[in-house]
Amino acid sequence: MQKQLVRVLSFLGVGSRKDCSHLIRKGLVTVNGKVILKPLDKIETDGVEIEIDGEAIDYREQYFLMLNKPLGYECSARPKSHPSVLELLPENFVNRGIQPAGRLDVETSGLLLLSDVGGFLHHVTSPRRHLVKTYRLQTSEAITEEAVQRLLAGVKLEDEEELIAAKAVERLSENEIKLLVDLGRYHMVRRMMAAVGAHVEKLHREAIGDLKLPDDLEPGDWRELTQEELDMLGYSEQ
Ligand code: URA
Repeated sequence: MQKQLVRVLSFLGVGSRKDCSHLIRKGLVTVNGKVILKPLDKIETDGVEIEIDGEAIDYREQYFLMLNKPLGYECSARPKSHPSVLELLPENFVNRGIQPAGRLDVETSGLLLLSDVGGFLHHVTSPRRHLVKTYRLQTSEAITEEAVQRLLAGVKLEDEEELIAAKAVERLSENEIKLLVDLGRYHMVRRMMAAVGAHVEKLHREAIGDLKLPDDLEPGDWRELTQEELDMLGYSEQ
């Protein structure tokens, strides 16, 4: 596809249009090995190789990422009291509008998906899709069998009309369970556990749909999703 060079650079998150025009006019941008000096010149984006000041930048229409969210990070782009997860990504990813699909609390770790494709963010978070999220959690007190049955039957949360039920509960130890839910409400898992009298001490998201957080992705690390992983999430481009 043919696009103006300045638009391509700002889309890639290199900077504002003004910054990108400046870089181009200074002769710092090469396209397929040739310096281009006019910001409005059109370039063919298919298979293009762009360098800025000798550094190659990937031309990509869209990004789909997974991050192993560490504890102590906020998912908001404008965090209040902790660093944002976006600080764990390259700056140009943030400039081009990559955002988390839904949120994990500051004190929750685990699988977080991010993208600059609105349709994908919606796909992952939409309650209508019923994508099941798997959480592993530890509580300060033993989780009784009655509590498990109540989670499965549904608990009443403040400001929610309907009962919120777990899709499944797997007991791992006296005070540790895996909880599968297909909704995403504010602090939902912590509030569900509080409703059955248990205080969550540790909360970790292990999977979204069939997509599991890989063992080799360390806290704070990210990588792109493969096509197979996008398929696992049931996402197909519109
Ligand atoms: N439920 C919560 O309470 N917190 C999270 O971070 C995710 C789900």
